[in-house]
Amino acid sequence: MIIDNYDPVLIVESIVLRSLLFMLEWILAAFSGINFTSQLEQIMPLDIVVGTQWGDEGKGRYVDLLSAQADFVARYNGGDNAGHTVTVGQQTFKLHLIPSGIVHPHTVGVIGNGVAINPYVLMDEINSLVQSGVDISPDRLKLSYGAHLITPAHLALDEAQESARGKSKIGTTLRGIGPAYTSKVSRQGIRLLDMLDEDLFIAKINKHVAEVNLLLTKIYEIEPLKPGPFEDDFLRFASLLKPHIYDVSSLLSGALKNDQRVLAEGAQGTLLDLDHGTYPFVTSSTPTAGGALVGLGLGMGYEDRIIGVTKSFQTRVGSGPFPTEISGDVALHLRGTGEQPWDEFGTTTGRPRRVGWLDLVLLRYAVRINGINELAITKLDVLSGLERLLICTSYQKDGTEYEVLPLGPGELMEYKPIYQEFQGWQEEITSIREWGHLPEQAIKYVQSIENLSGIRIRLISVGPERNQLIDRDLS
Ligand code: GDP
Ligand code: IMO
Ligand code: MG
Repeated sequence: MIIDNYDPVLIVESIVLRSLLFMLEWILAAFSGINFTSQLEQIMPLDIVVGTQWGDEGKGRYVDLLSAQADFVARYNGGDNAGHTVTVGQQTFKLHLIPSGIVHPHTVGVIGNGVAINPYVLMDEINSLVQSGVDISPDRLKLSYGAHLITPAHLALDEAQESARGKSKIGTTLRGIGPAYTSKVSRQGIRLLDMLDEDLFIAKINKHVAEVNLLLTKIYEIEPLKPGPFEDDFLRFASLLKPHIYDVSSLLSGALKNDQRVLAEGAQGTLLDLDHGTYPFVTSSTPTAGGALVGLGLGMGYEDRIIGVTKSFQTRVGSGPFPTEISGDVALHLRGTGEQPWDEFGTTTGRPRRVGWLDLVLLRYAVRINGINELAITKLDVLSGLERLLICTSYQKDGTEYEVLPLGPGELMEYKPIYQEFQGWQEEITSIREWGHLPEQAIKYVQSIENLSGIRIRLISVGPERNQLIDRDLS
């Protein structure tokens, strides 16, 4: 299937903008005698895939699809707390760190400075991809020198902090994410760059373990870690990963200027964003679109499509507010039993995901925070067989109705969702490829999401496979 990456409206907008800038440059040059080089000539397409919910929207599935047209596929945030599933025929890839687009042989996979890397997980992932026949030579996987490392000390700290939180625990993935980003912002982190000098690297690891041990023993009153066992492992990782360490910013900026396409793959979702999510029940990185520029070292102005991936309903794993959460038979229908690979059980932790109705107040919020200009929907097929469907269109609090959250999504549980009801459909839709062939009620449901969010939905996924897709531009 060929995906045309250009929206005609965007092309016209881009031509008008370029013409205006050209005229402006011409006038400035005529009056000042100085020849300005066109900035817009440098604008090349960067597509950013972001999750609009609390993660697990099906980003991996769309990254895989869009990678067919990309030269570089780059992860810009998070770590192995992510679990992105890609299904290609009989093969299912569950990727935690390496960008999902690596599955296509023509792409170069990139891990940006915004990512935190547990080298044990990275090496396992490299080995398992190699065993599945995917080439992961240094030419195919580039790691930013600025990416931070997650160590066993970070994992121990994540666990100690979660158990100390008791009932108010975040429900983290226990992958050391919070502690690793804490090391980064407190300027005590260890970066991939440090791997290039063995002595310095070991000295930094020892200092880091000593600092974490103080916290483990004095604050959390648990056993300290011994650095010895993982010192050797980390030296081995350093020698294996060295050929992959790169200046990712320079690589990707150069590629964009050379007319090559870069696809930025977000992990987690908007509502888990450290700044813009349901704080404090969030992750510690920046999954939103702005994080792609910072997390890959790109300047402004490259962005083309900002594709928000949205499940047809809503899920969350871990603690935190979820106003449209449901239980009972409909919840069981949405979650599944765990028998199917796509049932709602965490890719990384195996935990059953909380499920609920689609929340348009939060989707509109995600559109604003990310600057989303295209929505892609997943799991429309999972809604087949339900009598009725609900979409939350606004909230109510103290007698006032809100279509926009007055102070962001932090205190969500104070709001009561107001729903619009839709008739469901009974037909199986997994083999439908044409928009017009969907049941009338499914078309109405998707159109309502479009109308209520103000954003066009071009891609609709009706199954995990590459071809289980309706592209409205092609049908
Ligand atoms: P991500 O973290 O956003 O990449 O999403 P996950 O991979 O954690 O979870 C999405 C799951 O849904 C995966 O098992 C996908 O293979 C599956 N999936 C994606 N799109 C569809 C779809 O349209 N229908 C069905 N049934 N499964 C889908
Ligand atoms: P993908 O990329 C769903 C959740 C955890 C927890 C919170 C903080 O597959 O969509 P952390 O370990 O990051 O400190 O946990 O964030 N979480 C995710 N939930 N999908 C993810 O990634 C997630 N990554 C983190 O469950 O609630
Ligand atoms: Mg996931």
